[in-house]
Amino acid sequence: MTPRRPPCSTEVLISAAEIAGRVSSLAETIAAKLPADMMIVSLLRGSFVFTADLIRALHLTGAHPQVDFITLASYGAKTVSSGEITIVRDLTETVEGRDVLIVDDILESGRTLHFARQLVAERNARSIQIAVLLEKPGKRAVDIHADFVGFVIPDRFVVGYGLDYANYYRELPYIGAVESV
Ligand code: IMP
Ligand code: MG
Repeated sequence: MTPRRPPCSTEVLISAAEIAGRVSSLAETIAAKLPADMMIVSLLRGSFVFTADLIRALHLTGAHPQVDFITLASYGAKTVSSGEITIVRDLTETVEGRDVLIVDDILESGRTLHFARQLVAERNARSIQIAVLLEKPGKRAVDIHADFVGFVIPDRFVVGYGLDYANYYRELPYIGAVESV
């Protein structure tokens, strides 16, 4: 069956220009706290756009990160993320002894980042920091906090800048709040 793009209308919550400004300032904050030779662990698929912009902003600070990707999935997730996390595609690099920056799109229940942090810790990273573009407060199911947060947003389902609804809408250059589906 051909996939169908679920129709939805979005309200611009964070514009492309606002994102660009915040990514630059985040990169400066990150560069001040991590060694230039850091290892970025980017969580696919939602964080690929943020990661792409962040590493170029980091370049402007003089940092020279290595980058790797891991694909994690939580069961039964549609617009509500739920339950157990599994590795769909693992890292290819070793993180042992590295100063790791885990990058994700959004921190909600915290299960995804908790899993990722534990995995990287078990593989003996030297240090672990977490950067997220977005954070929804009051939704945490596990004890985790992000060291670097782009924007704290209201408890609404958002799409764009890599975030999806049924794997659509990732291409929007802004963060949009879904108004109706
Ligand atoms: P957590 O494990 O509950 O913190 O959820 C994190 C993951 O759920 C993110 O990496 C996203 O892929 C997804 N997610 C959570 N909230 C949203 C949203 O509002 N829009 C799109 N994806 C979301
Ligand atoms: Mg995700």
